[in-house]
This record gives sequence, structure tokens and C-alpha cells, in this order.
Amino acid sequence: MIVLDQENKVFTLHTQNTTYQMKADSRRVLLHTYYGPRIGGGDLSRLIRYADRGFSPNPAEAGDDRTYSLDVLPQEYSGGGGGDFRLSAIQAELADGSQVVDLRFTGAEVRRGKYALEGLPAFFAGEEEAETLAVFLEDAVSHLRVELLYGVLEGCDLIARAVRVVNLGAEPVRLRQVASLCLDFQYAGLDLVTFDGRHAMERCPTRAPVRPGVQGVGSVRGASSHQHNPFVVLCEQDAGEDHGLCYGAMLLYSGNFKAEVERSQFDGVRLVMGIHPQHFCWTLEPGASFTAPEAALVCSPDGLGQMSRRFHRAIRAHLLRDPLEGRRKPVLINSWEAAYFGFDSEKLVRLAKEAAALGVELFVLDDGWFGERNDDRRGLGDWWVNEEKLPGGLEPLVERIRALGMEFGIWVEPEMVNEDSRLYREHPDWALVPAGRMPTRGRSQLVLDFSRAEVRDHIYEALRPVLSCPGLSYVKWDMNRSLTEVWSAALPPERQGEVYHRFVLGVYDLLERVRRDFPHLLVEGCCGGGGRFDGGMLYHTPQIWCSDNTDAVDRLRIQYGTSFCYPPCTMGAHVSKVPNEQTGRTVSLDTRGIVAMSGAFGYEMDLGELDGEEKEQVKEQTAFYMEHFELIQQGDHYRLSDPFQDGPYTAWAHVSPDGREALVCVVTGCVHAAAPFRALRLKGLDPRASYRVNGGEERWPGDVLMAAGYPLPMSMGDYRSMRLYLEAE
Ligand code: DGJ
Repeated sequence: MIVLDQENKVFTLHTQNTTYQMKADSRRVLLHTYYGPRIGGGDLSRLIRYADRGFSPNPAEAGDDRTYSLDVLPQEYSGGGGGDFRLSAIQAELADGSQVVDLRFTGAEVRRGKYALEGLPAFFAGEEEAETLAVFLEDAVSHLRVELLYGVLEGCDLIARAVRVVNLGAEPVRLRQVASLCLDFQYAGLDLVTFDGRHAMERCPTRAPVRPGVQGVGSVRGASSHQHNPFVVLCEQDAGEDHGLCYGAMLLYSGNFKAEVERSQFDGVRLVMGIHPQHFCWTLEPGASFTAPEAALVCSPDGLGQMSRRFHRAIRAHLLRDPLEGRRKPVLINSWEAAYFGFDSEKLVRLAKEAAALGVELFVLDDGWFGERNDDRRGLGDWWVNEEKLPGGLEPLVERIRALGMEFGIWVEPEMVNEDSRLYREHPDWALVPAGRMPTRGRSQLVLDFSRAEVRDHIYEALRPVLSCPGLSYVKWDMNRSLTEVWSAALPPERQGEVYHRFVLGVYDLLERVRRDFPHLLVEGCCGGGGRFDGGMLYHTPQIWCSDNTDAVDRLRIQYGTSFCYPPCTMGAHVSKVPNEQTGRTVSLDTRGIVAMSGAFGYEMDLGELDGEEKEQVKEQTAFYMEHFELIQQGDHYRLSDPFQDGPYTAWAHVSPDGREALVCVVTGCVHAAAPFRALRLKGLDPRASYRVNGGEERWPGDVLMAAGYPLPMSMGDYRSMRLYLEAE
């Protein structure tokens, strides 16, 4: 619900459990007055104190009043170059070269439903499910107008935000930064949690108190990156899974981003998040507008677990566009770790046959099926079938796979080109690199200039026959290097600062075309695993290959970190062979199954190499996943322990929204002799219900399971697993 008090210029957004408020003061500065647990309302600017602070200057219209300084006030969207020395949300270079943006309130209105953003991913909702608040600010000299959009998804406790800048002046303006989100807190005592890592070890949480000055994370790699995720948390310093005030902020963007917090001299905290200003410069001609990507906020008064579950529900219901419309996703087998580039039709059919016999439903042909792609040094860009490997093209193979009762999926990497390819030989200028420079190579490949429509059109036309292949139901969309030497032959020098962003818009455009023309296809995102795992991609690819690391023990950490924002159904997770290709570790098939099953489940190995007993286990795993798909994919996710603590076990649970059904998963760590007794305290159950565990005779009261716990076996061995399926009577 949005309450618009036009008279006092107080604008209050209520979700079911949270309240957010701003107010335009007498000088028309838009102040941020509150974000937190739901409260009745009223004008909360009474929380703001005014004092004469040394070296915090006063705007001209304050006259002799030295207690009024933009350097101190909590603001909704900070300008720059004036009297606020904290992080700016917007930076612009005006026609005269000056860099002052002084934003003042000019109006606000409420609209039914949730706004949409042209060309950019955004949460969506029905007319009845959401409302939009639009607040208008303007710089009186340059006539830059800033529209702040707030989409209130009341039932999900999520507030989406976007920013549109319009040049109403007569001269062009160069935008150096347009943040999607600026959020001021009047008090410190907050921790910042970021999700960091590297290729094959993504989204490991880092938590530290917000210290004086600026700190943050970002990416200038052209993708949201393996190294830092465009999702951050600010929380009270004693906040844990089940208690404490937490704020999560996600950016729905897949390119360069920056998320920074600043603790000010007076212990206020400001969070600013958006496209990374480095390499960014967007020329806004008179009358033109620029839209920054969407950001979304969730506040949870009851800890990190509740914050995550709020994001999960909102993402599942209002961000993922599911081509299966709620039907169960098929269990898949992917050819990559089973065959790499070394395959022909016969080998693929054999892999598929073995898998089909064990209950696997979708066969995904990964890299290596096109052009001269016999290794990772050539062929990207040549999207025709390599008939030496697949005689007669894709169709005969697909027919044989479908005859096994399986669906068929295929891998593509549309944004890339190898120099050793027909595409590059014909269009060397389509790769991103300034004329006269040698390009930096990543995995022996270059990046296509997706800011150019003709490049995207060409790739789309080349891919169309593949996407049109009868029987194709799934596509894995990969991207295997970062962007460097970013320069487009199609733009003038003064517009080169737009290329990174135009590249991302180009990727979204192509993905949208695929969706428009092939709405039945389930597209899985991938960027060397989890290098572009963000809300922007999830809007287009409702699941993302979570990491190139398939080791079950490392995956405990990767999936745990990912779960702070993103629901399990978005995390591609496969059982692969042992010893694991990335770590050399050998983990039981049970454990590999339990871990992979907590995501979008599949296999990535030659199942024919398993012995009879293991094959029976695979049959049991696929059958179990199919039976409990809804609970795992749509249930509430509870983190029951922290795998980064190297404790005796890692545990988590998928619980039905009514608490009457739960799947609890436990994986031991490195065990020791004479271990202490342990009981695992469960969460999210119905305290009054009585549960059967794994179909046994014994009954366990919900309150006992949550307050006292379920006893764990004393000794299970390193990295062994246990699955408890609980059903209320
Ligand atoms: C990187 C992906 O993450 C892998 O799963 C695989 O698809 C390879 N690329 C193929 O080149």
C-alpha cells in the first residue's frame, strides 16, 4: 500500500511487514525518513536532528541557518558536486563542464500495478498485486529530471526501485553515474555482507562491520562476475539466521556494477548501488532519457533466513519467467564432463541410453557440436553442425534421443568468437577491440560487439535453425570470458563510454528475441559456471549453472552463499564423477545426489561407468527428486548450519509453506573419533503437528524437533549424508 500525503509531501510505502518512507522538506530536498519493520505511519522526519556541523556547508537558500546541510541529512537520492560529500547517486557533466547536480522535488504520483522497464529486466506483477510510486526530482539549472520509481510488491515484502533520467534542458549532458539505489541509515552499528569468490568458488559470504569511510564491491569485467555478486546485505551486528534486522539489496544487472557503503563522520550509513561508473559515460541529448537497471530491497526484522525466504518467494513468483508454467523440470544429463569435445553421435546416444534407463529425462549436448570446434581454441561463431561428429546434422540425433523417451537440449555461446572461425575471418571488426590494438584473449576467444544490432541479428539468424530444431526443449547459454579493450567500431569517440552498457542491453535483447520466438525453450544461463549469476540474467534464464565446480563439498559452500538471495530452483547443480575433476576429491554418490538435488538437478558423467548398485542409487535419486520436486523447488529454504564454519556437518531444509512437509539434508564434514552427541534443531515446522521421519513408526512433535532437535548418528564418516523426509500426520 502506498500512502501519498501530498500536503505534507510524505510518501509511505507499506508492504505486509515493512514500511519505507521519504519526505520532501520545505526546501524540496527529498529526505529518507525510514525503512524497517511495518509501523503505522505518520511523518517520521521527526527522527531527523539538525545541528551546526563544522565543514558541513549550507545551501544558499538556508541563509543563516547553519544547521541545514546536505552533508548530514539522510537523502533519498543524493546529487553531487554540491554540499554533500558522501557517495553520490548521480554524477553528470553539464554542457558548461560543471558537475553539479542539485535535485529538488517537483511532484509524486501513484500508479496501479508495477512499472516495467523497456529493454531491462524487472520484477513483474499483476495490477492487483503491486503499486508504483513515481517521485520526480529536478535540477533547476541543467533541467535534468530524475524519476524515482518504486514498485511495491506488498505480499512479498519487496520494494523494487528504478531510476529514469530525462534531459529537459537544451544542451546535451554527459552522465557519469546513475545509481539504481541510494539508501541512507541514520545509525551505524551495521555489518556489510558481500558474496565474493573466484571462478569455480563463487558467492562465499564475507561479513565485516561497516567502518568509517567507503567500502564495497563491484565488477569491471563486463559481467556481474565470479568475484563479487550484485547482491549485498546490511544487518545489525548481532543479526543471525533467525534474529536481527537485515536489509538485502539486489541489482538486476549482468554487467559492470558497484555496490558501496559509506559510514559517515556522524555514523550514518549510505548504500549506493548501480552500474559501475568506471568506463561509463552516457551522452544524453536534449529530450532523451536514460534508465538505470532495477534494484530490489527486502527488509527482515527476523534475521537473514527470513530475508532470503522473502527474496526467494519474490524471485520465484515475480522474476522468473518459467516456460514450463509450473510443470516439473526434467532431470537432465549434460555431456560436458562425460565427453568434453570428444564425441560422435554414437557416443552421445550411448550416454543418453544409459541415462534414460535410470530415469533421466533430458539430454543436453554441451560444447563441441558445431564448426571446427574440436577443442576450445576454434569454432566459436560458426553455428552450423559439425557433420563429422553428427552425420546428417542435429535432427537425426534428436530423433534417436527422443526415441529413448528423452527431451533434447543444446549448448551455445552467442556472445563470443574465436579468431580461428569463419565468422571472424569474414567480420574481424565485429570483435570488441580498438583499431590498431592487439586484443587480450580469454580462453582463446574474443568478445563480439553485441552493442551493434547487425552483429546480434547475424548471430540470431545463425542460431535460428538450431533453435528451431524439432524436439529441442532446452538451451544452455554460456559466456566464457570477461570483456577487455571495450570499444565499438560503430560508435563515435564521445560515445565509447556507452559500450559496456549497450553490450548488456544487447545480450538482453537477444535473449528476449529467443523467448519471443521460442517460448517453449527453457534457457539455462551460464558464464563459466556462476560468473553471471544475477537477477538480470534470471529474468531471462530462470536457472543458471551455479558453478563449474561440481565437487559436492565445495558446492555446499557455493550453494549456501548463493541461497542468501537466489532460490534453490535457480541453481543448476549436477552429480559428476569421482574423483572430482576440479578438486580430486572422492565423495559418495549419496552425498553428490543430496547436494545436487537441492538445485535444478541433473547428472554430468558417463552413467554407464557405474556399477549395478550405483545405478540403482541413481534410479532412486531421480525418482525421489521427481516425487519431491515441488517441495525442493518451491518450498521455503532454511539454512541450518554454516558450511564455512568447518563444523561437524552442513545441514539445510526445504519446508512446505504450511510447515507440514520437510526435507532435511545433512552432510558431515571431516569427522573425528569419540564425537560428541549432536541433535539438529529444525526450523519452519508446525509446532503442534506430529511428524513421521522417513516413513518410520515413531512420531516426532514439531515443537520438539525445533526446540530440542533430532539426534544425529554419532559417526557417519567424512562427507557422508543423511536425508530426513518429514511428513505431518
Ligand atoms: C563452461 C561451462 O560452465 C561448462 O559447463 C561447459 O559448458 C563449458 N563452458 C563448455 O565450454
